[in-house]
Amino acid sequence: MGIEKIEMDDCVSSILITHEEIVNKCKEIGTQITEEYKGKRPLLIGLLRGSVPFFAELIKSIKCDMEMDFMDVCSYADTHSTGVVNIIKDIKSDVSGKHIIFVEDIVDTGITLDCIINLFKKRKAASIEICTLIDKPEGRVRKNVQPKYCGFLIPNKFVVGFGLDYNQLYRNLPYIGILKEEIYRK
Ligand code: PRP
Repeated sequence: MGIEKIEMDDCVSSILITHEEIVNKCKEIGTQITEEYKGKRPLLIGLLRGSVPFFAELIKSIKCDMEMDFMDVCSYADTHSTGVVNIIKDIKSDVSGKHIIFVEDIVDTGITLDCIINLFKKRKAASIEICTLIDKPEGRVRKNVQPKYCGFLIPNKFVVGFGLDYNQLYRNLPYIGILKEEIYRK
């Protein structure tokens, strides 16, 4: 067994999750989804833009029939805290009767997914689950949002990489790292 050589970029103070750990976790979750969705032909929906690297790595290990689509949304809470979702790009697929798995890079407050899940219930999805690379449970406002498939639980730190950005930068890092404070305090 060789020791993985990890190169760290200047923007991060430390690496929280290595590329190897991410790849292994994607295999694990992909295998679980394969077993649990055999014969169900799930529709995986990636939420743009952060989910793209995770989505691409995950589906390599899903061996049952599946469909994929993408959605881009902005969400915010209205005065009654029910949440409103602004769809920038909707999916092309018909949802009715389908088994949906939302794929996210991170779930934090849960507001985004809460809004979308409500929408997909109205669209009569047969089932809806969440698959996220990162979960930050400390930030959760919508406690009902509970990912069934979760790569890593992390503390309330500012993380970047593998899809996660700061001001649209650093999504291309192959690992997840803690952003240096001097960058976001500038
Ligand atoms: C991020 C992330 C989730 C959402 C999670 O998206 O990809 O969609 O925020 O946050 P929440 O649980 O607090 O709602 P963002 O709007 O930053 O867009 P991006 O994917 O383009 O980075």
